[in-house]
Amino acid sequence: MTGTTVVAVDGPAAAGKGTLARRLAAALGLPYLDTGLLYRAVGRRVLDAGADPRDAVAAEAAARALTPADLERGDLRGPMADMAASAVAAIPAVRAALLDFQRDFGRAHGAVLDGRDIGTVVFPDARVKLFVTASVEERARRRFLELQARGVAADLMQVTSEIRDRDAQDANRPVAPLRPAEDAILLDTSTLDAEAAFAAGLAIVKDRLGG
Ligand code: DC
Repeated sequence: MTGTTVVAVDGPAAAGKGTLARRLAAALGLPYLDTGLLYRAVGRRVLDAGADPRDAVAAEAAARALTPADLERGDLRGPMADMAASAVAAIPAVRAALLDFQRDFGRAHGAVLDGRDIGTVVFPDARVKLFVTASVEERARRRFLELQARGVAADLMQVTSEIRDRDAQDANRPVAPLRPAEDAILLDTSTLDAEAAFAAGLAIVKDRLGG
């Protein structure tokens, strides 16, 4: 495997791309970056500052001030963090501020990156691009079970509506909207468990990388 192998894993919330990307990285011996975490950490900083995550000035300042320690925080998941991340992610200056970090990470040793715009914007020349999807119902069910497992009280209808809202916000923003790259391979995990999704994803990657 060459040092510049970049595998892009994009898709909507709770489609299973994080789990898949992490496992692919381990199997390929590549570093892994969860780019959603960058937007989550920016959203969290804005909330902590008492500002509105839709405030472009506050969000850009938070993105520029981001430190590695921000990515280690334990409070980057949950409904508030989800919506704050999605809101700051719609701001062009925030995306621009995070672009170099993502590119430097991938270029250094190659990497598997998961997000929304890895194959379209961050690494349009990635060797392999996967677009991971699943039905809204299945994604909501998974997120609901994940919250339950973490001991967080959750309501399936509420989780479903939050996923729909976030899909709409991520797909309809003017800058780097969620969409598959033209040369991305679609992987629908609606009927696949994590093991089957990994097997399918790895087969696609190996095929693309030439064995
Ligand atoms: O993958 P995630 O759910 O942790 O992402 C959180 C939010 O960040 C999501 O609503 C969209 C945004 N995001 C983005 O716009 N671009 C990325 N490359 C990754 C995430």
